Amino acid sequence: MTTRHFPDGFAFGAATSAYQIEGACDEDGRGRTAWDLRNHDEQGHPTGPVGDVACDHYHRYQEDIALMKQLGLQTYRFSISWVRIFPDGVGRLNAKGVAFYDALVDGLLQAGIRPAVTVWHGDLPLALDRAGGWENRATITAYLAYAQFLFDHYGDRVKTWYTHNEPWCAAYLNDYPLPRQLSIAHHLLVAHAEAVRLYRQSKNGDGKIGIVLNLARQYPASADPADVAAARNVDGFLNRWFLDPVLKGRYPADMVERYQGFGAAAPILAGDMEALMANPSDFLGINVYSRGVQKADPDNAFLGSKDAPDPRSVYTEMGWEVAPESLYDLLMDLEATYGTEIQITENGAAFQDAVMQDGVVRDDDRLAYYKGHLSSVERAIRHGCKVTAYYAWSLFDNFEWGTYEMKFGIVHVDPVTLKRTVKKSGMYYRGVIAARGIEE
Ligand code: BGC
Repeated sequence: MTTRHFPDGFAFGAATSAYQIEGACDEDGRGRTAWDLRNHDEQGHPTGPVGDVACDHYHRYQEDIALMKQLGLQTYRFSISWVRIFPDGVGRLNAKGVAFYDALVDGLLQAGIRPAVTVWHGDLPLALDRAGGWENRATITAYLAYAQFLFDHYGDRVKTWYTHNEPWCAAYLNDYPLPRQLSIAHHLLVAHAEAVRLYRQSKNGDGKIGIVLNLARQYPASADPADVAAARNVDGFLNRWFLDPVLKGRYPADMVERYQGFGAAAPILAGDMEALMANPSDFLGINVYSRGVQKADPDNAFLGSKDAPDPRSVYTEMGWEVAPESLYDLLMDLEATYGTEIQITENGAAFQDAVMQDGVVRDDDRLAYYKGHLSSVERAIRHGCKVTAYYAWSLFDNFEWGTYEMKFGIVHVDPVTLKRTVKKSGMYYRGVIAARGIEE
């Protein structure tokens, strides 16, 4: 066995997001998001899984910081709930919400854990949502005022910022027609660029700022040129449509043409692409869970592809293929094409597990997932890729946007008592962090 060490300065962390863990939805002046209405009847009572309580992190954050310290986390990525700061999205500031994140940030720093903050992770204020959400350019203005407040207020202590989490998901996980989806995607990208500009101009702008994209390396199912083209199209749709504007200041020409063929175009106004070009990020955050394998499919008019699952592979509860090699390939591709610093802002797996009678959660499948992916990261670094941080998704079993059945935690959370139990994968990760390396 060899121990493969991660370089000095490489940071190990874990990630969460506000609505998925905080709970306390009705407390201390928090406003409403669209998520607060889902699975609730008119009286506001839950009719299905909701985030009203979630992991109750809002009340247990001190205990949770102690747990992170026990795990040896060097950094913690979390998102701020916009409606705790500005309950209506714009205007009135909520001092109690501001104080909560002050306490969280200060507690983390006292524990020696660097806070890394996502400005927006999927929980748009209801007032903005009702006014058209990210399809409405007014949301960009509101977002920038919110981001400016965060930079000014927390930026003395928070030195890593993520503008948005996963614009692809925000734009495409709905049944809107393509032009509407492109409009959401474009406005998110413009908001990102303008937030980078604001950050650099702010009094605390000496840290680092970037965006978080969900990426999956695409492979053709065979060497057949039709399969190769199918994989390239999906890559364009999922990955390059976001990577190119953020890192090159332009949309990929092949996809612009493809969208045009379907009557869709990004609603670009004068100055938008210039803003993207003029405000490069300090790093690229990537959320990586799996890969895609594509086969040509003439019935799919838009991308000409269909998924070709590999029957020999292991799949997680989400139906996502476990493909650690693909993370290595993706990192090497990103290095070759964009050459930028990368943070792996999410990586992890949903598998069923349970606390056994002896109090142990033996999540060997999740442990193997982490081992395989950390090994790919280390190898990519050794081969020249500039990866500076890795965040496990997720610190806790949490509200997986509609269900509690998909368990991503390295820490188990009892659904009734909310008791936290570090899983075997969490213990493994603690060992990796302590040794700053993995055994191979
Ligand atoms: C999101 C998380 C989510 C995770 C697992 C990412 O898409 O950022 O909020 O829980 O993946 O689905």
